Amino acid sequence: MVNLKDIRREFPLLERFIYLDNAATTLTPLRAIRAIEDLFINFSSNYGRSAHKLSRETTERYEEVRDRVASFFNASPEQIIFVRNTTEAVNLVAHFIPHGHIITTVLEHNSNLLPFYSRERTLIRPRGFELNPEDIEKEIREDTSLISITHASNVFGNLQPIEKICEIASSYGIPVLVDAAQTAGHVEINLKKIKCDFMAISAHKGLLAPQGVGILFVRNPEEYPPLFLGGGVVEEVKEDSFTLVDPPQRFEAGTPNIPGVIALGASLSLLEEIGVRNIERHLRELTKRCFNRLSEIENMSICSSERSHSIVSFNIEGLHSHDVSILLDEFHSICTRSGKHCAHLAMKHFKLEGCVRASFALYNTLDEIEKLAEAIESISKGG
Ligand SMILES: Cc1ncc(COP(=O)(O)O)c(C=O)c1O
Repeated sequence: MVNLKDIRREFPLLERFIYLDNAATTLTPLRAIRAIEDLFINFSSNYGRSAHKLSRETTERYEEVRDRVASFFNASPEQIIFVRNTTEAVNLVAHFIPHGHIITTVLEHNSNLLPFYSRERTLIRPRGFELNPEDIEKEIREDTSLISITHASNVFGNLQPIEKICEIASSYGIPVLVDAAQTAGHVEINLKKIKCDFMAISAHKGLLAPQGVGILFVRNPEEYPPLFLGGGVVEEVKEDSFTLVDPPQRFEAGTPNIPGVIALGASLSLLEEIGVRNIERHLRELTKRCFNRLSEIENMSICSSERSHSIVSFNIEGLHSHDVSILLDEFHSICTRSGKHCAHLAMKHFKLEGCVRASFALYNTLDEIEKLAEAIESISKGG
């Protein structure tokens, strides 16, 4: 059992920086870095290609990670497709469901909007920061083919009522795609309880893996055609036809990101040891403290709500968000993100030109929140 305090040793960069840009990407634990080293030193070979021991071991270890991901989210291994990131996962779903009207929201990251721009769309607006399932139900049409919705916005952080939305959608027979880029690893996700048809996940955020690995959960993978074709996805090839292998391998054409997947397995072991519920509780405490502490500062405009999960977005009156983020970095070694956060429609909805975002991960501490607040106080006074 790893203590939340002890885990900071897994992330050497924390000795030099206060890292509050976790919604963009998290730091990678030493055990994941070492898993990549172990792969290349001890068994590196290609996946599923050759009969020799090294290739068999690589394949086995890769599939063990798939099993681990499946059990982490309470899904089955054949429902877990490894992709590059959430963006690729959403594009795959747009390929799976090529026709019909899409219901989505103004809270989405551009990655969950642009793949649907060639389609007729209805954009749902939140009431306050949260979506109301009834507002979605009212927009369902005869030709609605997909509801695509974020689990939590990457700027505002409120958890959305996805279980209820999935329940409503399923009563109309409409599939739901949940963008869980900001929630996987930060809150418990049980795919037996959340009845979505698809879930898109980037492993480089709450799951603490390196960049370049993502997960697409597909509840009924045999119903959809792969987008990419090539090596590894066929059983038989004739001159004018071919037969696909079963899911999930049929969706993973070409040599996959083996080091990334192996590292993901190691990162997941850390999350399992700590327990996602403990992480969830810790993040809630950090967010609440940050929200309360920043609320006390003069000239402060907090853009996100108290109910946000692991994100606090704000502006200092009279200063551009980029300037604030640069000052935090230059003079306080605090990493944040500024600007529109690839969420242009959400920024327009909340009438924001931009904002600074402090986003947390399991390794952040209340002490770091205090240092952020002190730094912001000093910047807001011109220091
Ligand atoms: C909610 C949300 N969706 C999608 C994405 C896109 O993730 P990626 O760049 O890993 O594809 C992000 C990235 O920040 C995000 O926060």
